[in-house]
Amino acid sequence: MGRGSRTEGAAALFGQELRRLRQHRGLSLRGLSKVIGFTPGYLSKVENGRPPSPELARACDDNLEAGGALVALANAEASVRPAQLPAGIRRFVGRGDQLRLLDNSDARAVIIDGPPGTGKTMLALRWGHHAVDRFPDGQLYIDLRGHSPHERPVEPRVALEEFLSALGVPANGIPSGLERCSALFRSLVADRKLLVVLDNAASSEQVRPLLPAAPGCVVVMTSRERLSSIAVQSDALRVTLGPMTPADSIALIRRVIGEERAAVEPEAVTDLAARCGFLPLALRIAAERVLAQPHYLVRDLVEQLDVDGRLDVLTTFDSVAVRTVFDWSYRRLDDDCARMFRLLGLHRGPHISTGAAAALAGLTMAAARTLLDRLAAAHLVKAAGRDRYQLHDLLREYAGELVAADERGPAVTRMVTWYQGDRLRRRPRAGALP
Ligand SMILES: Nc1ncnc2c1ncn2[C@@H]1O[C@H](COP(=O)(O)OP(=O)(O)OP(=O)(O)O)[C@@H](O)[C@H]1O
Ligand SMILES: [Mg+2]
Repeated sequence: MGRGSRTEGAAALFGQELRRLRQHRGLSLRGLSKVIGFTPGYLSKVENGRPPSPELARACDDNLEAGGALVALANAEASVRPAQLPAGIRRFVGRGDQLRLLDNSDARAVIIDGPPGTGKTMLALRWGHHAVDRFPDGQLYIDLRGHSPHERPVEPRVALEEFLSALGVPANGIPSGLERCSALFRSLVADRKLLVVLDNAASSEQVRPLLPAAPGCVVVMTSRERLSSIAVQSDALRVTLGPMTPADSIALIRRVIGEERAAVEPEAVTDLAARCGFLPLALRIAAERVLAQPHYLVRDLVEQLDVDGRLDVLTTFDSVAVRTVFDWSYRRLDDDCARMFRLLGLHRGPHISTGAAAALAGLTMAAARTLLDRLAAAHLVKAAGRDRYQLHDLLREYAGELVAADERGPAVTRMVTWYQGDRLRRRPRAGALP
């Protein structure tokens, strides 16, 4: 049974793509039939979902110059149900108005925009998990890495390759060229009910080729940009995030530090929320800092927070220097952790491995892992898989500014040497020596 429905699904995909390529060429069924030597009736059945013979798939592929895509689709596992939404939305609080707006909307495109660290990604993931049942054909997710001044945003073509492969298209079935990838993606999702999350998008240009344009699909984009041209083109629902409400900010802190402790000092918790400018990223870091010091009064900790920070690059809202919150957590780190954190500011790229971090700091893997895990506990870095870590770009900028002149050179040299060695280690050895 399972095998049967899989074959049927794959055949339907083949049929859709065949029709698209044929029409793109301006060929009628009869026209194609003449070129490839199969009857128009048979071709029509295949376009409507009958499994193609290998000979037909090959002939169509060659004549329509599909570059192997049709042959691969004829063999594809079409019943794959992608489930790419990252798990682990822990301790999510608030954003009730926005969640309701999303729930009640029937828009097929949503743009969640707003300044850094306001919780755009968290909201998209939270709503995605909440709404999974609306999307029986699954979810596609990609972090487009559009935010960092030091990293290149993900190329749309690379994103499409990931989506196509998540949809069951084998590697040799992925067409060359952005437009053809994009067209294949659209035809594969045309009849499905899928959620597509395009997280941390850089620009309208980056997301345009990734839009499903299918009635059963919803695409949720998050970005620090407004993505104005996409908003118009896709008639998107816009949800703009700013600081949290004071009540939600307090709830966030309480969730992290525990109800008991918060209940003893409600005013100090309120003050802490205000000092964080109600910015979720800052609230989370500050709350973890309080959590890590169970023997202090929250009030004493708040008083340590110097509110006199001036507006600077790290200021996200007019009323608050986010830097102050970062300083406050940074100053509490022990020397080894603080040094590791500073040096991470020298690393470019979306993730850092434990190996690269160890090289950067001149430590063993085990020692580096311990420090990275402690930084993760303070919410200053994020664990992003086994031996992989991530730094929010506001924090990386901040860390980079703290690196002392005399530690910069040696650390960079160690890291570059490590990366060169890593490249050699990864190179296939077969044939290297006679
Ligand atoms: N609703 C929420 N409940 C609890 N914590 C939250 C919430 N929103 C955000 N946070 C915290 O703030 C941090 C930053 O959130 P998130 O990464 O979603 O922000 P963003 O707006 O996507 O930032 P960027 O512009 O860098 O992409 C999260 O790691 C999380 O700790
Ligand atoms: Mg984000």
